[in-house]
Amino acid sequence: MTVPAQTRQRRLRIPLAAVLAFAGASLPVHAATIATVASPGKVLNVEIDLSKEGRISYRVQRNGKPVITDSLLGLRLRDGAQLFPWFQLQGQQTSTVDDTWEQPWGESRTVRNHYNELRTQFAETGRDQRRMDIVFRVFDDGVGFRYEFPKQPKQQELAIQGEFTEFTLADPASAKAWWIPAGEWNRYEQIYRTTPLDNVGIAHTPITIKLGDGTHVAFHEAALVDYSGMWLQRIDSGKFRAVLSPTSTGAVLKQAPFHTPWRTIQIAADAGKLYESSNLILNLNEPNKLGDVSWFKPAKYVGVWWGMHLDTQSWGVGPKHGATTEYTTRMIDFAAEHGFRGVLVEGWNTGWDKDWFANGWVFDFLKPTPDFDLEKLAAYARSKGVHLIGHHETACAVSHYERQMKDAFALYERLGIDVIKTGYVCDAGQIERQEKKNGPVIREWHDSQWNSNHHLRVVTEAAKRHIAINAHEPIKDTGLRRTYPNWISREGARGMEYNAWGEPPNPPEHEAMLVFTRMLSGPMDFTPGVLSLVGKNGMPIQTTIAKQLALYVVLYSPVQMAADLPENYEKHMDAFQFIKDVPADWEITRVPNGEVGDYATIVRKDRNSADWYLGSVTDENPRTLKVRLDFLEPGRAYEAQIYRDAKDSSYQGEKRFRFEKETRQVTAKDTLTLRLAPGGGQAIRFVAPR
Ligand code: NOJ
Ligand code: CA
Repeated sequence: MTVPAQTRQRRLRIPLAAVLAFAGASLPVHAATIATVASPGKVLNVEIDLSKEGRISYRVQRNGKPVITDSLLGLRLRDGAQLFPWFQLQGQQTSTVDDTWEQPWGESRTVRNHYNELRTQFAETGRDQRRMDIVFRVFDDGVGFRYEFPKQPKQQELAIQGEFTEFTLADPASAKAWWIPAGEWNRYEQIYRTTPLDNVGIAHTPITIKLGDGTHVAFHEAALVDYSGMWLQRIDSGKFRAVLSPTSTGAVLKQAPFHTPWRTIQIAADAGKLYESSNLILNLNEPNKLGDVSWFKPAKYVGVWWGMHLDTQSWGVGPKHGATTEYTTRMIDFAAEHGFRGVLVEGWNTGWDKDWFANGWVFDFLKPTPDFDLEKLAAYARSKGVHLIGHHETACAVSHYERQMKDAFALYERLGIDVIKTGYVCDAGQIERQEKKNGPVIREWHDSQWNSNHHLRVVTEAAKRHIAINAHEPIKDTGLRRTYPNWISREGARGMEYNAWGEPPNPPEHEAMLVFTRMLSGPMDFTPGVLSLVGKNGMPIQTTIAKQLALYVVLYSPVQMAADLPENYEKHMDAFQFIKDVPADWEITRVPNGEVGDYATIVRKDRNSADWYLGSVTDENPRTLKVRLDFLEPGRAYEAQIYRDAKDSSYQGEKRFRFEKETRQVTAKDTLTLRLAPGGGQAIRFVAPR
């Protein structure tokens, strides 16, 4: 539920002539600054310029220093002239918003939404006289802007083939980027690259950049609804252009009035502040449209899952079938014994037996396999206070899934199954769309306009039945959890599964990289907690035990899996205790330290108690990090339960199992020294006095 607190709005009208007088110094030739807006604390400043040919561009400064230099704005249409030159300013308004809203679940209970908005209204001078508004919202730690199309004088349909939207970084020569390529067959599940900025080709967002002076910048988007996802192509030194994900229609089809998603630029002094600046993405999304969603309970879960990835179990029926009544019963018992709310079961329905990767049209979401007694297991789970977690792997036969979706949700609702993991396993661009049964099958991208709408069809239909959705192989996160708080988590990066069978598996820097890249966009169902530290065929996982624990704090999700097999947890009961204790819903989140791809320390306060938790991870290098405990409540003695790497621990070889546990008293005045082994981590629970 969103609770708007103090809301203050102010509208200013600035005479055009007065604004024109401020033509800035670093303008392109023949351009004039026609509008400007600063952030509430005057940290960021945005200027809008209009060239002699009527082309619109913008610039951003932080504390007076350019961060984004001259960057063009405009759209390219399929059925008409480009929306690019010959614009004339018609008017402009500024306003201020400062409100604080409450998240039903999340990294923090409250979010402050404080920005100055500038709306500039343009019209074409030429034949078409089309109208276009550009709206900037400027926060102290970032900027969002979007195109808005009011009702047009002539044609209302716009087929948007591309954008001229640019993002030009100041001082590119000294800038570094962390990114994954867009347009690749493997969607978002790639190893992040660290390169000079000018070595980026075409990138997915969020893309994270560090400028020579240490300023951190991330480009992404907010509220990707009924539009294609934005990729960023580097077109010149330091200059990126928005490219829209391909769509079967050849263009994004819109009808005025409408607006595009927000293009976002997070700008912060360091990596930790960059992570914290991600509230901007939530703030740019619409408030909760679902009303009371207290039926969704953030929680941890176990599941019939890791065995399939190890290939010791199978999704399809047969001697290795994982989803049997007998095995699932044991899993429910394990969950009940150790306090896990959820039990995920994959491979429970018919359709997995042959090559399911290649054919999702055989999946039946209503029909359990003969050896899986769904009704009985759901009832047994309920009797133990446990909930089965549903699984809908579509293998990308998305229209086939949509035809069954309502009945499948109804079945789950009746059985008390209130979280579903969905899946879209297929190469990028291979989503199968079929408008009419037996009609032609058209291919779409995972981040196409059509698939952005598909995800919302799933989420809104599931919400009617009080079901929450955790999508794998999803479209990227753009903060829609604010509007649809039953869209609880997703994958959208390389998760733990790559440590089972990935060639190569995840490198030791992977999680410290995710924090400041993928995680800027929202929660991830990474599925941590594999304490056995081996993948398929005994392949060692490049991590320590303590690092696996730290991931529950470092990689946020309101559903967190304890991914390992019960028999493996039974061998590591000391470390397992942390996984049992750690919550999945937070009151406050802070980032005491971190560098992209090197290390990250995050502290979070439990939403349902006075306890705090700390997670810290490093790459292949050992680290000694000092953390002041000034986040704890002053004057109280906390019991710090410390789970850390042993002195000689390392992600390499058998040393990865070396781990120790210590308990000591601490207060807010203390500073802790965290020693992280190569590829290691540390997890701490600070138990408040009861
Ligand atoms: C890929 C998902 O990421 C994984 O978690 C799941 O087990 C398989 N698809 C099968 O649906
Ligand atoms: Ca996956």
